[in-house]
Amino acid sequence: MASSSPAIFSLLLVVLVLTSPSWTAAISIQESFLQCLTLNSEVSVPLSTAIYTPDNPSFTSILQSSAQNLRYLLPSVPKPEFIFTPLLESQVQAAVICSKELDIHLRVRSGGHDYEGLSYASEMETPFIVIDLSKLRSISVDIADNSAWVQAGATIGEAYYRIAGKSKTHGFPAGVCTSLGIGGHVTGGAYGSMMRKYGLGADNVIDANIVDVNGKILDRQSIGEDLFWAIRGGGGASFGIILSWKLRLVPVPETVTVFTVTKSLEEGATKLLYRWQQVVDKLDENLFIRVAIRTADAAANGNRTVTTSYNAQFLGGAKQLLQVMEEGFPELGLSRKNCIEMSWIDSVLYIAGYPTGTSPKVLLQGKSTSKYYFKAKSDFVKEPIPESGLEGIWKRFSVEDNPLMFWSPYGGMMSKISESEIPFPHRNGTIFKILYLTIWQDEHESAAKHMDWMRRLYNYMGTYVSMFPREAYVNYRDLDLGMNKKGNISFIQASSWGMRYFKNNFNRLVRVKTKVDPENLFRHEQSIPPLPLSSSRVGD
Ligand SMILES: Cc1cc2nc3c(=O)[nH]c(=O)nc-3n(C[C@H](O)[C@H](O)[C@H](O)COP(=O)(O)OP(=O)(O)OC[C@H]3O[C@@H](n4cnc5c(N)ncnc54)[C@H](O)[C@@H]3O)c2cc1C
Ligand SMILES: *[C@@H]1O[C@H](CO)[C@@H](O)[C@H](O)[C@H]1NC(C)=O
Ligand SMILES: *[C@@H]1O[C@H](CO)[C@@H](O)[C@H](O)[C@H]1NC(C)=O
Ligand SMILES: *[C@@H]1O[C@H](CO)[C@@H](O)[C@H](O)[C@H]1NC(C)=O
Repeated sequence: MASSSPAIFSLLLVVLVLTSPSWTAAISIQESFLQCLTLNSEVSVPLSTAIYTPDNPSFTSILQSSAQNLRYLLPSVPKPEFIFTPLLESQVQAAVICSKELDIHLRVRSGGHDYEGLSYASEMETPFIVIDLSKLRSISVDIADNSAWVQAGATIGEAYYRIAGKSKTHGFPAGVCTSLGIGGHVTGGAYGSMMRKYGLGADNVIDANIVDVNGKILDRQSIGEDLFWAIRGGGGASFGIILSWKLRLVPVPETVTVFTVTKSLEEGATKLLYRWQQVVDKLDENLFIRVAIRTADAAANGNRTVTTSYNAQFLGGAKQLLQVMEEGFPELGLSRKNCIEMSWIDSVLYIAGYPTGTSPKVLLQGKSTSKYYFKAKSDFVKEPIPESGLEGIWKRFSVEDNPLMFWSPYGGMMSKISESEIPFPHRNGTIFKILYLTIWQDEHESAAKHMDWMRRLYNYMGTYVSMFPREAYVNYRDLDLGMNKKGNISFIQASSWGMRYFKNNFNRLVRVKTKVDPENLFRHEQSIPPLPLSSSRVGD
């Protein structure tokens, strides 16, 4: 009974609206949306309980649930009119149709890890609504077929867990952080500790289901090569709503080896990091050694020092790893006692930073362990940064509260895939990628101070990193690189970040966008712009 009353209610409203136009103004956005959803849904389900308005006691907890950057939850940041959590894929279709019909700006969220909060906050235009896919998270693994279908709202950690539950020798090469939503994550590339061996998550997608601008579900058969190309790396929320990805599983050995070796400045970190840059992209593809760079109090004098942690995963046993290190990077001085052998799924937890001994079941919680206020940026490095350049970074690190960098090595498979294979262009010639982060925990702290520090560091790094364009990773979204403006989304303006994220693939992304969403329903601060309708034939 309860489930049919909203439908009846909506039908009454429809009758009222049709008979008396003056009623329209009295109907809230959420009422008209609900009414439209009901008309466009095949199955009668309790839609009203899937819509959370700010006066609903659960609104705040749902909004905050997966939002990773606290900066975009501050009271001053615009909040959605309501959050819709569809239970069925057909409701996502209906939501797209209704958003278009009612001209309500829509944001879509899978795992909520967007660096600039674009999946749950819009500063570009209000009002807006959020379609949160967290209730669409089923996973089906088919070992015989070497594949898995994963719904957008599942985390990458849940996918890893389900794969490992079916086979000790299958895995998937995507993000290090296990709480990422697979929906948004794969749209931007998705790198992790197996990328030197197997490439990105997006390189290993074999099919997808996507709701297009007309509310139709497309798959590999119906989508067309252009759009299938664009969604695997062209960034989230520009082309449609991904309902699920079909992933190609990759082989992993029963035993993998991990280690973490930390060196402070006093222990020769600068020279060692210079050496790492010269060798890391040429090492055996089974070996991924990233470096986490932080500050710490130096025990001896109370002054701050910088520590560099070499955090690694090797797809093989410890004995073999020691050989690889002896040949390629003996300077680190890795010894057998640094090495821990374990299953692939345990190594996923290790690299993600869970304490040793944590059960993989933790991945089923499907959420992140900590949230903070942060600002981040990225760079790609093509020539080793000299020791003098590193010294300059240490100086800047010493004056910031919680600075952090992750340097992730490229080479291997990343160099073998062409720049235009998918929209993600950062391939051969890249030695490593830098992620810069500054983190704070107190809402009263001045964000401006930290943002300013980050921008200065980024300026300083300009001479040491890729140029023309200065490349950036779209999954590390950075609004400093430019923004679309409401009502004036310009191709020229968008190319300022588009060329950095996609290099020349940006032009093809714009052509695909112009073809599949000429009226720009799927838009946000850094979405791919369509060419203006009058010039849409140019460049075809
Ligand atoms: C702590 C942390 C660790 C990270 N670690 C890694 C890492 O190891 N490797 C890596 O590659 N990246 C990493 N990232 C970046 C991450 O890949 C991106 O933030 C990614 O976009 C997150 O996807 P999401 O679904 O969780 O985020 P969301 O915020 O939900 O979405 C991100 C973007 O995609 C859009 N989107 C979401 N769902 C869909 C959908 N179903 N269809 C279409 N568009 C959609 C959103 O509107 C938004 O624009 C990390 C980020 C954080 C915060
Ligand atoms: C701490 O660093 C400052 C500035 O670099 C230096 O002048 C001072 O001697 C250092 N203190 C100790 C105890 O080393
Ligand atoms: C990568 O680039 C280098 C130098 O430009 C070149 O020698 C090499 O052949 C390239 N590798 C691949 C796989 O394209
Ligand atoms: C739109 O953006 C373009 C490019 O930045 C600018 O030249 C133009 O003046 C803008 N138009 C409006 C109406 O803001």
